[in-house]
This record gives sequence, structure tokens and C-alpha cells, in this order.
Amino acid sequence: MTEGGQEDLDRIQHGKVGANQRRRRFSVVPGRCPGNETITDSRIHQNPRERVELSPNGNPRPAIFLATRLIDVVEEQFESVFDTKKVVGEDPLAELRASDRSFDVVVFSLDIEMRAKQIEALPASVRALATYSVGTDHIDLGFAQERGLAVFNTPGVLADSVAENAIFLMLGAARRATESVELIRSRSWPGWSPRQLVGFQLSGRTLGILGMGDIGMRVALRAEALGMKILYSNRRPPASSERYASGYRSSVTELVRESDVLLLACPSTEETREIIDTALLKNAKPELILVNIARGDLVKDEALVSALRDGRVWAAGLDVFSGEPDICAAYFDLPNVFILPHIGSSTREARLGMGGILIDAISNWAVGRGVVNRVV
Ligand code: GLV
Repeated sequence: MTEGGQEDLDRIQHGKVGANQRRRRFSVVPGRCPGNETITDSRIHQNPRERVELSPNGNPRPAIFLATRLIDVVEEQFESVFDTKKVVGEDPLAELRASDRSFDVVVFSLDIEMRAKQIEALPASVRALATYSVGTDHIDLGFAQERGLAVFNTPGVLADSVAENAIFLMLGAARRATESVELIRSRSWPGWSPRQLVGFQLSGRTLGILGMGDIGMRVALRAEALGMKILYSNRRPPASSERYASGYRSSVTELVRESDVLLLACPSTEETREIIDTALLKNAKPELILVNIARGDLVKDEALVSALRDGRVWAAGLDVFSGEPDICAAYFDLPNVFILPHIGSSTREARLGMGGILIDAISNWAVGRGVVNRVV
């Protein structure tokens, strides 16, 4: 987070939206967070004394190692609910291993890879991993499961934020935001002209969504309000009663052929990695806009750059990149690319929701309750 971002968040805590914030800060109750409805099980004891006995390492409160620094208000929530230690140095996992305290849960985010090697090196006391992200492609889930670790993530609470960012990227690409901002900020704008920076309206165009999960659906609803027609492709074909079912396309090639704007909203998996390549882009309509809000490695950068250069892809809106933060340098030089530094969930609402849903998950898990956002 930039310093400016932290300042903004400080304002949330102390300024205009403070009242609302303060209400949320101390209302962290298991199961109350949107998207984290508790699975009730009549066998689970409700008595707080018994919760203590059920805590995984016999601690009065689960001990949490915050391996990634979160926004202040969320860190304070963690500290008020759990026995929490925040990372101080540059190497969080080494710090965790060197600590003389034992921790039940490691909270981290996309900045920390949790592959087999890192999982193997975790202290034996660690029983759960909580990622401050919806994506889990930085975690070896199979290995975590093999090791008996629970893994929690943050679905739902960030979906509106990411969906709004998708619309921002679509509009930014269609309305030539990079060139427009550059023109006015460079103080070289000669004034209004009918020929200047002519882009596209989204209304009347077809949006093809690759990956119609929660986020894809929320983008579809917003895009429909902008007058777009919705098509999509998914792992699972829809039931005929599902919203947008008639827009389902069973092959990605078919989806690309019919789309004016193609939105990538699917997870990065072995099947989807580098799915956007030269062969697929050959099927694109002449003025395709490509938008990626999911993961950078869905796109083969050389293929997209060459399609953007020769006009086969008219523009792109990208929030995510392969090898972040060292992104493919060609994107900086292409005026028809609107790039953002992975800010999909960077809203006050999403960041708070992400903290809340993990706190709920850990609290419920610690007393043996089911957790909706448990990945393995
Ligand atoms: C962000 O990319 C996330 O996975 O939450």
C-alpha cells in the first residue's frame, strides 16, 4: 500500500467515515460477516468456556502470526480478537520460524508464496493458513491439505470492489484513458476537437466473460445496466433457469469470436494459464477490447502485445500481470493499454470485509465450527 493509501485509511479510522468504521471495528462476531455465514451444527458448544478448551493449541485465544501487514483498522481487529504478532522485518517466514512463541495460524497474502517448501518449513504449531485474498494460486493447496492445514480465503466480500474495477478498466480502455490523461496532464492539450481521442461506447456491445463466478456475475449485472449484451464461458454449463444461461458458450473460441469486450475473470489453473495466446486471438473480432481482472498469467504477454501493436486487439485494460510487480515493459509504451497496479480489491469496504471474513473463519475454526470460506 502506498503512503497515500495508508493516509486514506487513517482518515477512515479517524475522519468522515469513522463512525461507521468504529461500529464495524468492534463487531467482529463469528458468522456475522457478509459471505461468511456460519454452518450451524447442534453438536457445537456455544459456551465461551468450552470454546477455550477447544482452541487448537490449548491457548486461551488462537495465536496469529500476521506475516503480511494489513490496513491499521484490520490489524487492530486481529489484535482485539486474537493473540496477534505482526511481522516486523523483511522475511516474514524466517521471522515466524525464529520466534520463541508458537502460533496456530499464519495470516498472509499474495506477497508470500506458500508452496510445499514454505509449508514444510512452517513451525509444527501452525494448524491453519489464512490468505487475505480470494485467489489461492500462491498456495500449494494439495500439500497444505496433506499436512492437515486448514486454508481460509476471502470470497464474496471483495466481489463488488473487483467488479467495479472491471467496469473502470472496460471504460478506461474503451475511452482511451491512457492517452486522455497523458494529453491533459502533459499540459499539451490544444482544446476540444471533433477528431480528438475518439473511443467507443460500451452500450450495444457484447461482453464475453470468461469465468462466471461471483465476480463475473457482478460485472455482468453492471455491464447489463450499461446496455451490454452478456455472453460467458465457464467450467460448468448453467441450468436453463440461471440468469444469462442463454449467453453460455461452451467453447472459449466461440466466446472470443462473438465478444466486443472479453473479460478474464477465471482463476489461474493449469487449464487457464496462458489461455490468451496468438491462436485464440486470431478468432477475435477486429476491434476487441481485452480486460484482465483475474491473474496476469492467463495472458501470454508476447501474444497480446503483438495483437495490440497490429490492431487485432483494439485496446486492453489490465489490473494484473505476469511476474508482478515486474511487468512486461511493452505495456508502458502502448497508448491503447490502460494499466492499473492490481487495485481490484483496494477499497475501504473490501479491505475491511476481507479482515472480517478471516477473523470470523479463524474464530469459528478454533471452536470446531464449520467455515464457509475454508478452501481445504
Ligand atoms: C486479489 O487478487 C485476490 O486474489 O484477492
